[in-house]
Amino acid sequence: MTDPATASLIDGKGFAETLRDRIGAAAARMKADHGLTPGLAVVLLGEDPASEIYVRNKGRATEAAGMASFTHKLAAETEPAALLDLIARLNADPAVNGILVQLPLPEQIDADAVIDALDPAKDVDGFHLTNVGRLAVGRTDGLIPCTPQGCVMLLKDAVGDLTGRHAVIVGRSNIVGKPLAHLLLAENCTVTVAHSRTRDLPGETRRADILVAAVGRARMIKGDWIKPGAAVIDVGINRIEAEAGKTRLAGDVDFDEAAAVAGHITPVPGGVGPMTIACLLRNTLIATAAQAGLPAPEV
Ligand code: GUN
Repeated sequence: MTDPATASLIDGKGFAETLRDRIGAAAARMKADHGLTPGLAVVLLGEDPASEIYVRNKGRATEAAGMASFTHKLAAETEPAALLDLIARLNADPAVNGILVQLPLPEQIDADAVIDALDPAKDVDGFHLTNVGRLAVGRTDGLIPCTPQGCVMLLKDAVGDLTGRHAVIVGRSNIVGKPLAHLLLAENCTVTVAHSRTRDLPGETRRADILVAAVGRARMIKGDWIKPGAAVIDVGINRIEAEAGKTRLAGDVDFDEAAAVAGHITPVPGGVGPMTIACLLRNTLIATAAQAGLPAPEV
């Protein structure tokens, strides 16, 4: 039996809805003042059901924010040259301000070569080396990867100034762990990046004022791995077996145990996930403004 929950719930869904409304209003102003409609192209190879749902949700959210959405669905067997050709056309298309190629890609495609081919000014994922480098030297005004950006927004909203806090990130991916380390350093945190080879992982996580789990292993992080009062951000979205042959989503954190110890915690679903799409729209708006030589919109 665990104690009743003490943590306050971080409402990512609600925060993301408010952010999307602000982005929609900024996009409407951009259209009224400058005649610009931000355009986002999303490229999906193959028919992975989870990726198809993400891509459909991205398209809907883009249109709901008053932006133009272009979805390119290609066969899983697409030749690398055909994908690079599509990217060259999107790079050159003035109606397209942002390009996202859904990862992971099929095995015949070299993801690094695809990312290298993107125009960095349209790289709304923030994965191109130019954008990675900007962030690594502490310039946080460029195109920043969406999921870590969403994590930092939620953390600042929940706990305020992050200066001096010890942040432990579990997971070292290029999509979440590494860019998040740079963002939290820019917020003056002391940052530890732990991963599958870390010795005494529970010992590391127990020192965290801010704990971010981004490993992709359902409920791996237990209640006794968490410092009392810590802010816990769960990036994991894992499909697990539920009753009666059904499945459901679970995070990387054992929510019931963690909620009895933590000060703040994100649920799964409804925590970080909705922030990723909102930050993608924000990046599309920022990219559109930069391409037109306009100042960055305040959203
Ligand atoms: N697959 C999982 N997360 C992401 C993301 O943030 N961007 C892209 N392009 N693919 C993903």
